[in-house]
Amino acid sequence: MSTPKKLFIKTYGCQMNVYDSERMAEALGGQGYVETTTADDADMILLNTCHIREKAAEKVYSELGRFKGLKADKPDLKIGVAGCVAQAEGQEIMRRQPMVDLVVGPQSYHRLPEMEAKTREGEKALDTDFPEEDKFEKLKGRRKAQRGPTAFLTVQEGCDKFCAFCVVPYTRGAEVSRPVDRILTEARDLVERGVREITLLGQNVNAYHGAGRDGSDYTLAKLIWDLDKVDGLERIRFTTSHPNDMTDDLIEAHGTCSKLMPYLHLPVQSGSDRILKRMNRSHTAESYLRVIERIRDARPDILMSGDFIVGFPEETEEDFQATLDLVEEVNYGYAYSFKYSTRPGTPAAERAQVDAAQADDRLQRLQSLITRQQRAIQQSMVGRTVNVLFEKPGRLPGQMGGKSDYLHAVHVADAPVQIGDIAPVRIVEAATNSLAGVID
Ligand code: SAH
Ligand code: SF4
Ligand code: F3S
Repeated sequence: MSTPKKLFIKTYGCQMNVYDSERMAEALGGQGYVETTTADDADMILLNTCHIREKAAEKVYSELGRFKGLKADKPDLKIGVAGCVAQAEGQEIMRRQPMVDLVVGPQSYHRLPEMEAKTREGEKALDTDFPEEDKFEKLKGRRKAQRGPTAFLTVQEGCDKFCAFCVVPYTRGAEVSRPVDRILTEARDLVERGVREITLLGQNVNAYHGAGRDGSDYTLAKLIWDLDKVDGLERIRFTTSHPNDMTDDLIEAHGTCSKLMPYLHLPVQSGSDRILKRMNRSHTAESYLRVIERIRDARPDILMSGDFIVGFPEETEEDFQATLDLVEEVNYGYAYSFKYSTRPGTPAAERAQVDAAQADDRLQRLQSLITRQQRAIQQSMVGRTVNVLFEKPGRLPGQMGGKSDYLHAVHVADAPVQIGDIAPVRIVEAATNSLAGVID
């Protein structure tokens, strides 16, 4: 038997890319590849890239530059670019970095084995189609190995919303939901391999509308209730949601489905209705706040998380103040804020840009408010008992780390638990990025 070839995958961007990287590794497993953790000994390097902001996209080229020496030493080394930069820039990548052998867009991963074979013949391989066939069906796992207690599962992909700043509708294509049956089969398989928590993924996961066994249209809530019946699966999460797709049944599930965790990532982007309109977000600050109110009625202790863009074209100080006001009102457990980044080809790229120093200043003000809220919420956990799913040993000997129902990182010293256990932990201290506790 020949020695296996080594594959190094580096993943950027969102959780969907993390999931896709696992699928690509499985697909290339059939070509005799095993994964390695360093680029140095790899026979193939794959960068799974993100195009969401300019910096993310540029990172790819600087990373590729670093592989030049490796390729010079090892001419057989194949270098591939996958993900959203691959989709957005295609052939341009090979023009800027001629040592790249393969470029594959997110909807063509099932074609990766043939593409890899082509590179072994000394040819270049490029595929950025949006093919009719279902890539997930063709990418079905060949590997049945045990795995850690948490997993991602993509249920929906693509986006039809076309927010004025965003590349996703162009890089991932139109919205497509996977059929219920395939999701349940994959979930059961994950549970058999040791998984206890599944995070359902989609760019607009709550717009999920996959086909049920009888062909009927499902909602995300209905899918969650089916997953709730999977023995051995203990926790369900989902991300990312759009405020307009928070349907009644999904809000209700937060109050009634005990496996659905009390954490919700619901990006709003801005608190100014004028800016939301310019962003083509199709919701207002008020309608967003009303959705949260209803979710909190269903599940009072839910931890809210969100995304914000500051310095969107034409944003005034008054608009920004409206964002701060909204943050004050929501009180976030987590929130991610970004300075607006111009993306070629999106409608907002053509508009009057906000002065960079002003945008920096606003970003800093927003982040300090968010950090204050985050810390106060973490501090409020001290003295409370929360369930923790243990995922890995901590940094100190004997220490174990995991996540609470609210997704807080929790460490326990000398914990009499195994990886995969869920145990009640009394929180005794809140540090900056994690909580410390004792088994209750
Ligand atoms: N589907 C999700 C988010 C996808 S992108 C949603 O509907 O909200 C993740 C986050 O990146 C977005 O929520 C937004 O805050 C940020 N983002 C997207 N495009 C951006 C841009 N051009 N500049 C800065 N941040 C951006
Ligand atoms: Fe991008 Fe808007 Fe679609 Fe989210 S809803 S992926 S921000 S276009
Ligand atoms: Fe980035 Fe593509 Fe995800 S642009 S955020 S990797 S969908």
